[in-house]
Amino acid sequence: MTARWAAPGRVNLIGEHVDYQDGLVLPFALPFATTATVTRRPGSEVVVTSRGEAARFDVDSEPGDVEGWAAYVAGVVWAMRDAGVSIPGLQVEVTSDVPVGAGLSSSAALECAVAAAVDDELDLGMTPQRLAALARRAENTYVGAPTGAMDQLASMLSTPGHALLIDCRDLSTRAIPLDLASAGLRLLVVDTHATHALLGSEYADRRRTCEGAAAALGLPSLRDATAAQVAGIADAGQRRRAQHVVSEIARVREVTSILDVGRPAGIGAFLTASHESLRDDFEVSCEELDVAVEAALSAGALGARMTGGGFGGSAIVLVRAEGVVAVTDRVQTSYARRGWDPADIVALQPSQGAHRVSCRAPRPQVDDPALI
Ligand code: GLA
Repeated sequence: MTARWAAPGRVNLIGEHVDYQDGLVLPFALPFATTATVTRRPGSEVVVTSRGEAARFDVDSEPGDVEGWAAYVAGVVWAMRDAGVSIPGLQVEVTSDVPVGAGLSSSAALECAVAAAVDDELDLGMTPQRLAALARRAENTYVGAPTGAMDQLASMLSTPGHALLIDCRDLSTRAIPLDLASAGLRLLVVDTHATHALLGSEYADRRRTCEGAAAALGLPSLRDATAAQVAGIADAGQRRRAQHVVSEIARVREVTSILDVGRPAGIGAFLTASHESLRDDFEVSCEELDVAVEAALSAGALGARMTGGGFGGSAIVLVRAEGVVAVTDRVQTSYARRGWDPADIVALQPSQGAHRVSCRAPRPQVDDPALI
């Protein structure tokens, strides 16, 4: 038998740098996906092919044994084996149109596609939540990136036309309507092409500082901290980081209730406030992201913010349909004036989470995003 699954990258609408503090996040699936085709093979080797490259490792590999892109695949195999699943030799073919290094979770897409296809091929019957947890374990423990729960759950569980509200304390989820087109709106994703090597170490640093702030308040996390409690934190660094987390969780609640009553145009100001908090209090933005956000707002966008871990990657912009050209032009002009390469700007609709793809289809199909 052969199993083929596609799993998308994600964009986070709001709720940034709060998933590892038991917070609330509101991502949605992109129409870009990674597809994994998995077939049993004799022996105990896993052979992975992607973009004309091949990697081989033993099903018994341990963290540290495999590096580079194949580590995400090896990590999923390891996490499944560690959870008691007996894994035979496997052939894994990977294709993807998720931009890499754009802050759109290409790694979660790869992990989730492989996890779902292995589950299907071996008839394991795991729930999408369980597969997301194993995919996250691959990222945290095998690859060694201390990320939160958002990316893999978004990739596994998102539904078209909706964002996915995830409560990162109990990992419960709720689909929130995000019908932008009928409201005459567009959501642009601006890939700045900026990648700052800082992301890994700074991410871990932010996590530690938040843990310190929660400990200073005698709380297990900042989820239930109040603004008044945070204002009393003695250490100024911890206080500012905690201010971001607490205000961001409040913004997710506001945005969710606005979307619940079907008024997406009303969320713009919260997106912009999120950006300011990430830039000033959490200090995870960068010049390329700030310029994209400021240019978009000055051209009439309803709201804009960086999305994902920060230090490069992508920004999102909420704009009325008739304002798309003005916003796009202003961002590109601002980039050109600084001598930067043009950003990639794409209008996207919330798309389907992980799903089985027919093995008879000659090529895995993903929706074509409307390229501007
Ligand atoms: C990265 C991590 C996520 C989350 C975001 C910030 O994308 O993978 O778990 O922490 O950063 O919101």
